[in-house]
Amino acid sequence: MGHKRLGAWRERWQRLVFVALLLFFKGSFAQIRYSISEEMKDGTVVGNIAKDLGTDPRTLKERGFRIVSSSRDSLFQIDQNDGILYVKGKIDREEICERSSVCLINLKTVLENPLEIHYVAVEVVDVNDHAPSFPEREKRLEISESAMPGARYQLPAARDPDGGTNSIQMYKLSTNDHFRIDVKERGEDRKMPFLILQKSLDRESKKIHKLLLTAVDGGRPPKSGTMEITVDVLDVNDNMPVFTKDVYSATLNENSPLGTTVIQVNATDLDNGPSGEVFYTFGNDVDSKMRKLFDLDPITGKIIVKGNLDFEEQKSYEIDIQASDRGPVPLTADKSVTIKIIDVNDNVPEIDVTSFSSAIAEDSRPGTTVALISVHDLDDGQNAKVSLSLPNDTAFKLMPSTQDNIYSLVTNSLLDREDVYEHDIVMVAKDAGEPSLSSHKTIKVIVSDVNDNSPEFLLTPYTFYLAENNIPGKSVFSVSAFDRDLNENALVNYQICRDCGDDSKHTSTLNINSENGMVYALKSFDFETVKSFQFHVLATDSGTPVRSTNVTITVFILDQNDNSPLILSPLSSNGSAEGVEEIPRNVNAGHLVAKVRAYDLDVGYNGWLLFSLQEVSDHTLFSLDRYTGQIRTLRPFTETDEAQHKLVILVKDNGNVSLSATATVLVNVVEPKEAFAASDVKGSLKDEDENNVTFYLVITLGSVSTLFLISIIVLIVMQCSKSTDYSSKYLQDPTYDGTLCHSIQYRSGDKRYMLVGPRMSIGSTIVPGSNGNTLVVPDRRSRASGEVSTLPITDTYTETREFLRVSIL
Ligand SMILES: *[C@@H]1O[C@H](CO)[C@@H](O)[C@H](O)[C@H]1NC(C)=O
Ligand SMILES: *[C@@H]1O[C@H](CO)[C@@H](O)[C@H](O)[C@H]1NC(C)=O
Ligand SMILES: *[C@@H]1O[C@H](CO)[C@@H](O)[C@H](O)[C@H]1NC(C)=O
Ligand SMILES: *[C@@H]1O[C@H](CO)[C@@H](O)[C@H](O)[C@H]1NC(C)=O
Ligand SMILES: *[C@@H]1O[C@H](CO)[C@@H](O)[C@H](O)[C@H]1NC(C)=O
Repeated sequence: MGHKRLGAWRERWQRLVFVALLLFFKGSFAQIRYSISEEMKDGTVVGNIAKDLGTDPRTLKERGFRIVSSSRDSLFQIDQNDGILYVKGKIDREEICERSSVCLINLKTVLENPLEIHYVAVEVVDVNDHAPSFPEREKRLEISESAMPGARYQLPAARDPDGGTNSIQMYKLSTNDHFRIDVKERGEDRKMPFLILQKSLDRESKKIHKLLLTAVDGGRPPKSGTMEITVDVLDVNDNMPVFTKDVYSATLNENSPLGTTVIQVNATDLDNGPSGEVFYTFGNDVDSKMRKLFDLDPITGKIIVKGNLDFEEQKSYEIDIQASDRGPVPLTADKSVTIKIIDVNDNVPEIDVTSFSSAIAEDSRPGTTVALISVHDLDDGQNAKVSLSLPNDTAFKLMPSTQDNIYSLVTNSLLDREDVYEHDIVMVAKDAGEPSLSSHKTIKVIVSDVNDNSPEFLLTPYTFYLAENNIPGKSVFSVSAFDRDLNENALVNYQICRDCGDDSKHTSTLNINSENGMVYALKSFDFETVKSFQFHVLATDSGTPVRSTNVTITVFILDQNDNSPLILSPLSSNGSAEGVEEIPRNVNAGHLVAKVRAYDLDVGYNGWLLFSLQEVSDHTLFSLDRYTGQIRTLRPFTETDEAQHKLVILVKDNGNVSLSATATVLVNVVEPKEAFAASDVKGSLKDEDENNVTFYLVITLGSVSTLFLISIIVLIVMQCSKSTDYSSKYLQDPTYDGTLCHSIQYRSGDKRYMLVGPRMSIGSTIVPGSNGNTLVVPDRRSRASGEVSTLPITDTYTETREFLRVSIL
């Protein structure tokens, strides 16, 4: 607008100056003005200068009429004959004046004689000879669909060389919904077209817009030029990814192997190209812990197990997933994925002993609590349901408490420390999972001692065999008791029982070491006075209350060969073993001269006496029975035999170190006198007759006895084969370890019936001369049958002996 006014004003000013100059130069030179259109043909008459100057055209030639202006003279020429100005060459206003609004060409004409200078102005008038044109035929524009209404896009301006009104006056745009054109004046005659977005574009509805821009000039008629505008609507990331599901949730077993796919998320994006490419990432607030456990495939959207999932640590996970497109300005969508972990029975039940008394007294009542035990399992549900049991313990049991999973371990029966002093209780906890897991725990319960056991003697009753003549003050034997309890309760003290009703005569001679049970005899025992006695020893422990036991001790005094044989006959009046026997000379061989009788206070071998002739005047005449001490004649006396014979008889016992005595028998052989002889013969005859008479009797009795004995033996054999128990019927001694079957065996050598002490079996051979531990049983039969007797032998015994001897032989 300003420019327009300026242009008009300048034009007016130029005209004013021009008029002023015209007035100034009136008279001396005239200003002639012509106007021609541009682009006139050669020779076109511009004007008649001579006429217009008032000069005679005929004089022109002689006056020398010409154009002096240098530059533009080529455009015009003057005909010197008539003074007419012609166009010479092409006059292009646009070339000469460019874009100035008034295009004037000033010519200077000279008449040389006389000099006259005339100025001629030729105005070249514009003709609309050019159409507007655009620098390019087509223009591509890329406009994002996100562009806001009002956005301006500069377009190339069209050009029109014509000036003035013939220049471009306006731009027009083909009809469309989205764009209009705006023109901006830039300096003189310059119009810049701008494409203005009127309404937002949407690529999804139309991708390309084709427009036609037309530039129109002000000529008459107007000329125009066009340009095609192609608008590519650029896609804008206007759609965000959308997850295909509203909720994503999955369940997953704990300890699932690495690489397990948990779930796959899926999001779609309607956009095109990168803006429609969806990739997945973890949300920003997914912490590193979760990232260690799960992996997310950015392309497929698969959530994959990456670490070890432990139900006991976390039971469910909430993972934020972000789906993004790859648009220039990416759009994102968030989704939370819930993963529930399912428990697997992977934890063994645990057993905790919460309170525990490791020692429990053995007299505790059944039901006494030993320990409180709690069980628990880190798993869930059935997998955490734990049952506790004692598989095979009967001494204890588990009592469930009111609280879940707490048990009390109580005694189930009476305990006995002496039986089991330490219980290893194995508890097994098992859960109800599938497969179930179990664990076990062992607790050691020690049973503490209570004085519930009395001392016990190793033997009861005790039997001791003590040799007589023991050294006073020396220990003779010892007793021992033990106590099954512990410590104090098992510390045993011994004492001799003074109020057990024993004969104080014996107990007072004994003493006992209270600690070790060693018994001391304060005096020497004499078998010949006391053969056995009993007493009691009391063993007492040191517990509270005190417990004690007594034991009966039977002491058998063993014989020692401390008595010499005593000669009973012959015995002289002053007590010496001497005797005189008178026998008639006519007695036969085998006549009983005398009988030496002796006995020994000792028993057994110590009392077993044997007779021998120590001194005899004539060995051929007398014989001595080794066992009976009977002295008999070996042959009838002859005349040559002396009248007096002295026999010294040695009586010896069979003790280890044997003791002996001697008896002296003087035999006086006398001449047979009637009376004397009679009595003597009677005696001897009686003897003989008796022998003869009894011979048959003996045979008879012998046969009867044999039969009887056979029956007895048969009977005994039968009884023995049935049972050996009859021993007790015959022998009351419990320490006796033989059987009757054996014990009744007679020995041809000694024909003795013996009870053998505890360290000997009846079968072992007893050598005559040894009296070790032998006792003579005062058995009737043995006494009757034995030729040796410890007691004075009466006639009656002798008789019987004779019979039995026959029968046995
Ligand atoms: C995601 O969903 C789309 C549309 O439902 C479907 O075409 C495509 O196959 C799905 N992708 C996957 C990986 O499931
Ligand atoms: C319990 O059983 C185990 C093995 O079966 C065995 O070794 C143990 O002695 C038993 N304990 C009891 C008290 O029975
Ligand atoms: C000795 O023991 C018997 C039975 O073992 C008992 O009856 C008696 O009373 C006891 N005597 C003493 C003095 O303890
Ligand atoms: C006993 O008497 C006998 C003679 O008969 C004589 O030899 C002996 O020495 C006497 N003994 C004593 C102890 O007196
Ligand atoms: C018996 O005598 C033998 C040797 O003569 C001896 O070794 C043994 O100890 C004696 N026995 C007794 C009980 O005196």
